[in-house]
Amino acid sequence: MKVLFVCLGNICRSPTAESVFRDRAEKLGLKNFVFDSAGTSANHVGENSDSRSIFYAEKRGYSMTHLGRQIEKNDYENFDLILTMDESNFSNVIQKCPSVYNEKIKKVTDFCLHQKYTFVPDPYYGGEAGFQLVLDILEDAANGFFAQYSKSK
Ligand code: 4NP
Repeated sequence: MKVLFVCLGNICRSPTAESVFRDRAEKLGLKNFVFDSAGTSANHVGENSDSRSIFYAEKRGYSMTHLGRQIEKNDYENFDLILTMDESNFSNVIQKCPSVYNEKIKKVTDFCLHQKYTFVPDPYYGGEAGFQLVLDILEDAANGFFAQYSKSK
């Protein structure tokens, strides 16, 4: 199963999601998952993730090695699930998606078990707490995701 995470810049939220979910799959011994991430904008193509995202992710044991890229046409066909971070990403992605693949697009928070957020707030212009919250929401979403998919796929 191939999962693509999508945010705006692909330097904070979606590469963090990729790292959290990949780490969880490894710990669960699940080898049939591929995780990648992309941005709706091209503003940070080729860049390392935001140094604050890397710092707080590494503090929790996640390694962040992704380089920014923009979502492209082939992604809609190649991935089984496209998990967006907020309403804006969701509407940008669905607008460009061939309608036959619309069912692949969801919000990552659809998988949350405990967190009440219906989107992952953009931490870019805020402080430390925003980056910690991104990790808290994504870890909860990963728990829900693997509870659902580790049995069926
Ligand atoms: P992301 O965060 O979408 O989680 O990667 C952002 C990164 C950069 C910008 C905005 C959000 N920006 O405006 O440059």
